[in-house]
Amino acid sequence: MTDMADLLLAWYDAEKRVMPWRGIHDPYRTWVSEIMLQQTRVDTVRDYYTRFITAFPDVFALAEADEADVLKMWEGLGYYSRARNLQEGARQVAERFGGILPSDPSVLASIRGIGPYTAGAIAAIAYDVPAAAVDGNVIRVISRFSGIREDPTVPSVRALIEKTVLALMNRKRPGDFDQALMDLGATVCVPGTPDCDRCPLRDLCNAYAAGDAQDLPLLPAKAPPRVKPYDVCVVLSGSRVLLRQRTEKLLNGMYVFWMREGHSDIRKLRDVLAGQFAAVPLSVDCRESAKHVFTHLVWDMNLYLVTLPPDLSAPAGYLFVNKDELDRYPVPVAMKAARRLL
Ligand code: ADE
Repeated sequence: MTDMADLLLAWYDAEKRVMPWRGIHDPYRTWVSEIMLQQTRVDTVRDYYTRFITAFPDVFALAEADEADVLKMWEGLGYYSRARNLQEGARQVAERFGGILPSDPSVLASIRGIGPYTAGAIAAIAYDVPAAAVDGNVIRVISRFSGIREDPTVPSVRALIEKTVLALMNRKRPGDFDQALMDLGATVCVPGTPDCDRCPLRDLCNAYAAGDAQDLPLLPAKAPPRVKPYDVCVVLSGSRVLLRQRTEKLLNGMYVFWMREGHSDIRKLRDVLAGQFAAVPLSVDCRESAKHVFTHLVWDMNLYLVTLPPDLSAPAGYLFVNKDELDRYPVPVAMKAARRLL
């Protein structure tokens, strides 16, 4: 009998997207790819993944690496805590499991950085354990297919979606089944107007029959992100530029230029800098403004180029690095516009 899983898997066999982490059975590689793919598009991840695996080919290589080198590899991908947690997770796997990722989703979920989604994905894709891997794509496909007209961010509704995935999967090729749902959600059963004419599941789909696929899933309205003003100064002293390694939760471990909350005028900024460096800036020029959007936050930045006398020493918590050596440090995309001032 042809059921949903047969239709979906036949479609996947014909239409699946080629990805460098597919078709290999190495749980470490599945882990790395799944962490990178959170909040990041497949096309962006490809090159990062290949470089990362080349630099850190197994759990031990990652566990023993310098954190700054790991963050450097992640530079530009965003959500840098993913990289820090991945490395901490690798250390746990090295110590607790002899470097071999477990296959049981509930044991996987005890490892740093591995939540229910990633635990299910690793178990199913790398070990073919029947486990659901429910991401945004899967929530959309299943809500439409099974006609789930409730808010999937509510835990009981999410649990229902997981249970539905497992029932539909019917133990058939768990890793391929999960990835087929993701691919269908990414290419056919897309947000807004789905391309139902190309869908292998159309004739079994509850929402297609009801005519409300475009309205599902019933996600709650998102609060707009908070906007925070900053002055960002690219501070030069001779051929050196000032950096600070962040200790805040956001962008922890990454290197940023001098920055201060609020928008000040040049005179005020000159006074603040003069006090901090015990030297009067030779120049303070406002160059442009830039915005960087995080998930719940926007940095609204006024960008300044500041020249201090040469040979100053950096204040506590800061360091001066040679302009030519800036590339060695992990600097977040949020600093991209400021970096261009150099
Ligand atoms: N998104 C996250 N993980 C994925 C995978 N393994 N295949 C397709 N899309 C994904």
